[in-house]
Amino acid sequence: MSSYVKISPSILSADFSKLGEEIISLDKAGADYIHVDVMDGHFVPNITIGPEIIKKIRPVTKKIFDVHLMIEPVDKYIKDFADAGADIITFHPEATPNTLETINLIRKYNKKVGISLKPRSEISLIEKFLDKIDLILVMSVEPGFAGQKFMPEVLPKLKNLKEMISLKKLKIDLEIDGGINFENSKIAIEAGANILVSGSTIFKKNNGDLKKNISLLRSI
Ligand code: DX5
Ligand code: ZN
Repeated sequence: MSSYVKISPSILSADFSKLGEEIISLDKAGADYIHVDVMDGHFVPNITIGPEIIKKIRPVTKKIFDVHLMIEPVDKYIKDFADAGADIITFHPEATPNTLETINLIRKYNKKVGISLKPRSEISLIEKFLDKIDLILVMSVEPGFAGQKFMPEVLPKLKNLKEMISLKKLKIDLEIDGGINFENSKIAIEAGANILVSGSTIFKKNNGDLKKNISLLRSI
């Protein structure tokens, strides 16, 4: 029996003019987490939202805020995101001079620690930190924009991570992010992902039927 797959809808594809309502709808539609993509126009070419917005949307749901930081530097903003209500804080190792310090800083605020690997980032970047983190986010598009095409070439990396985690008997969630749709969610799960991030598919397919799209992604 395969274990339960969690769905973390990315609010990047939501209607920002009614963000609170959109999050309430995701909550009611059965989302497990709320994926918040934070971009700074420097680490990635796009600019999205910051801690002030997270603070404003925090009261509308009890769901876990899965905050994906695509910002550089990272450390000076960890406290702001922790105080704003992030539950999981995920960063890119390329964006910090000292990965261990960033991990420890997130821990200091009692938040779950995630590390993200871009499509071309190798496992060796994070291997020695595996016993210190809760989640690995494998990017299946170049970070920066919603609606890009899934890159199947990241699947072997996901499989290798899954094997390493099982071998070391670690409890690390494997999340995949970018271009996830009804056609590729199955291969992502088979490769080892237990959390799927999805923006465009959840908000745009089936006339934006969030409930249907979330359950389709989970069950495929
Ligand atoms: C890309 C973001 C993703 C993305 C997901 O940089 O990290 O979370 O917005 O959106 P879709 O599912 O449209 O690729
Ligand atoms: Zn993301």
